[in-house]
Amino acid sequence: MGWTGRDVVSIRDFSKEDIEFVLKVAERLEGELREKGSLDYAKGKILATLFFEPSTRTRLSFESAMHRLGGSVIGFSSASTTSVKKGESLADTIKTVEQYSDVIVLRHPLEGAARLAAEVADIPVINAGDGSNQHPTQTLLDLYTIKRAFGRIDGLKIGLLGDLKYGRTVHSLAEALAFYDVELYLISPELLRMPDHIVEELREKITVHETTNIESVIPKLDVVYVTRIQRERFPDEEEYLRVKGSYQVNLSLLTRARENLKVMHPLPRVDEIHPEVDSSRHALYFRQVFSGVPVRMALLGLTLGVL
Ligand code: NCD
Repeated sequence: MGWTGRDVVSIRDFSKEDIEFVLKVAERLEGELREKGSLDYAKGKILATLFFEPSTRTRLSFESAMHRLGGSVIGFSSASTTSVKKGESLADTIKTVEQYSDVIVLRHPLEGAARLAAEVADIPVINAGDGSNQHPTQTLLDLYTIKRAFGRIDGLKIGLLGDLKYGRTVHSLAEALAFYDVELYLISPELLRMPDHIVEELREKITVHETTNIESVIPKLDVVYVTRIQRERFPDEEEYLRVKGSYQVNLSLLTRARENLKVMHPLPRVDEIHPEVDSSRHALYFRQVFSGVPVRMALLGLTLGVL
């Protein structure tokens, strides 16, 4: 499938070859950027960033990526100052914004919002997170980070720790990891287990272990991917209070880890990784933040058809 004009809605829309191709293009762009400082592939193109939910890294790294490609950016970081406040539908907002831009990046609290936007728009739509559902661009930068750190993804033992029920980053990531020869450890409080339909699908392709106990599995892992409890997605505050503070990665836990274990996190963190870990050899999460720019440059350049 060609890349020009393509939407990036769900990691399920991609083959392993597609994923590997994006990672390769990102690596090439990272090198070009280091050499030249800035690039001009997207000169004259406009990115619209429509964020109906809070964001720091995703929005700013998309904007940085577009600027580094020589393009420009319009958009909003809160729907409260837009006509959505007057009752405008998402479809009308998208049909409007596409008159002003060449590619749209959308974050929305409702699952399926990005799919709807992609159906309505003639220009490419990139999903920057739709409710608890998917966050495919985060997944691509996660894979890029793992590949850069280990030189490979195959053969690794990867743990996903935390809110596997409401976390969209781990839903996308688990589905993408199933393309590789990895052993997956799903580690969460009982209340926050990965949805059954995803676990069943994963088990058809790779070995999956489920546990509530991080202490017992930490010695086996090459990567532990930690996530925040997605408090804003809980229908009931009582349910949140039952799991609040139930896990933390700290130096005491890491004394049991392999020397080369890498700790990842899509960020923002609340209390699930103690700041004392930041300066340890295990911390990979700020390097992971850096990966957002080359990977999003690749996605923007490919969907715009300028690379
Ligand atoms: C994540 C998200 O928005 O899903 N953040 C991000 O994009 N890096 C994770 C989170 O909010 O916990």
